[in-house]
Amino acid sequence: MTEFSQFQQQHIPLIEEEMTAFLEKYTANTYLKESMLYSVQSGGKRLRPLLLLAVVLSFGKELEKKDFQAAAALEMIHTYSLIHDDLPAMDDDDLRRGKPTNHKIYGDAHAILAGDGLLTAAFQLLALSQLEMDEKVLLIQLLTKAAGTEGMVSGQAGDLQGETRSLTLEELIEVHERKTGALIEFALLAGGILADQTEAIVALLGDFAKHLGLAFQIRDDLLDATSSEEELGKQVGRDETLHKSTYPGLLGIEGATKAFEEQMTLANDQLLDIQQNNSEFQPELLQGILKQLELQ
Ligand code: IPE
Ligand code: IPE
Ligand code: MG
Ligand code: MG
Ligand code: MG
Repeated sequence: MTEFSQFQQQHIPLIEEEMTAFLEKYTANTYLKESMLYSVQSGGKRLRPLLLLAVVLSFGKELEKKDFQAAAALEMIHTYSLIHDDLPAMDDDDLRRGKPTNHKIYGDAHAILAGDGLLTAAFQLLALSQLEMDEKVLLIQLLTKAAGTEGMVSGQAGDLQGETRSLTLEELIEVHERKTGALIEFALLAGGILADQTEAIVALLGDFAKHLGLAFQIRDDLLDATSSEEELGKQVGRDETLHKSTYPGLLGIEGATKAFEEQMTLANDQLLDIQQNNSEFQPELLQGILKQLELQ
């Protein structure tokens, strides 16, 4: 077993427990709570929280409760984004993480509310967390930026606009950076901050995240075009059906694969750059995450 798969096996249950325990405390409406827990407990790679925790460990720090709380808040935001992304008014998907999408079980209106609940819960969790006061304010500020109108939400808006008009490569990169890159970037920045790294190191982690985030969405679009429902746990071929602007659409499978590989190489290079700037940094865990994302 690689160091990374061991890390993954050990930490995914802890991230899930952190989210579940927080949501279980809500008592106001059991149906709403059930629908939020349905999506939170439906699996997924847990890439973003794992990245955050991996960064902290990579600088030789031991993980504390506050790291798991930040990781759980991030995964709640991601899960909300998927619930809304799957709605009929957006990508209209029936399957997510191998299960019916939230709105297929609870209906569109309740799926919207489950998303609203998770988005709010994420910030409540951060506000009540064991983070130091200055870290708390900084992380909340960074997460609002990553999730909101400058980040994921505007990326999703651009993605929808890209259905009716073919985006240029430059425009598409910006959409990817916002809809997918921003939350991944938060994972890296938060990890660096929680590991008490300098602004310069945190900035280098952000550069790594930019390449990883772009690579990750190119990969997602490639898999939508080439993989299977069984493999992905979600419907495939949706991007073409919805006339989405994508890398495979603009550059073809080969061109998109090349762009993916270029971004992954740049991400790998960036890890060595971080190591050169801080000799305590151990890149193996993050290298392990990159390795797992390679296309077979
Ligand atoms: C899917 O994200 C949406 C994108 C931003 C591409 P993931 O591929 O991380 O989905 P899960 O969390 O593993 O289900
Ligand atoms: C989703 O991108 C991005 C966010 C949810 C923010 P996609 O629409 O490509 O993700 P999938 O393919 O449905 O997972
Ligand atoms: Mg989408
Ligand atoms: Mg989608
Ligand atoms: Mg997709």
